[in-house]
Amino acid sequence: MSRRLKLVSLGLLLALTGCKVSPPGKFERAVVKQVKQKITVGGKGDANPLPATPENFQAGQRAFSHYCIVCHGLDGQDTGVPFADRMSPPVPLLTSSDVQSYKDGQLKRIIDDGIYPSGMPASKGILNDDEIWAIVQYIRHLPPKGSLGEPAVYTGGQEEPGADRMKETAENSKEESRLGKTRTHSHTGSSR
Ligand code: HEC
Repeated sequence: MSRRLKLVSLGLLLALTGCKVSPPGKFERAVVKQVKQKITVGGKGDANPLPATPENFQAGQRAFSHYCIVCHGLDGQDTGVPFADRMSPPVPLLTSSDVQSYKDGQLKRIIDDGIYPSGMPASKGILNDDEIWAIVQYIRHLPPKGSLGEPAVYTGGQEEPGADRMKETAENSKEESRLGKTRTHSHTGSSR
């Protein structure tokens, strides 16, 4: 490719990526959902290798609470996430039929790869396969909206909650969120 042509195509690329399209309307979104569910999101045939046990469910909830809760809330239903409806596209309720109608393997792919170009990040390399499959189980059995309280990051609690603490949160949400407000500098327990 000549130098000139390279420059031209670079310019074109910048022009294309630079022009911000307006947020999609309801109709476009419905079409996109269909396309994603039927065609573009792979992994349909991949079954969850983890048996549906309380342990795996808890592992899923724990992994979810490290990383996903900042956008999805502890309950996967945006509880306490201040910007959930201001992201474009907004953070969906993981209990919604749109999300639940994905196959397990597709949810795994979505979590692995994230959704470009939205705010949904990729988890591959951050979480391991077992953690992600466990999260898929958690997504299938989310607790009632609001039942786990709000993420401590938004209630003035510690910034990165430790795994054990989050497990307690699941078991005794009200008590914990009350504690979370009073414990302002407890960075113990988290090795990261
Ligand atoms: C920085 C914010 C953010 C984080 C962190 C995040 N998500 Fe999301 N998530 C989003 C947004 C925004 C969307 C909507 C994307 C769209 O519809 O294109 C989304 C969508 C989803 C969907 C639905 C996808 C669809 O096509 O309908 C699932 C499932 C999901 N997230 C799971 C997770 C899990 C599990 C984690 C943690 C491993 C996580 N997310 C972390 C912001 C986030």
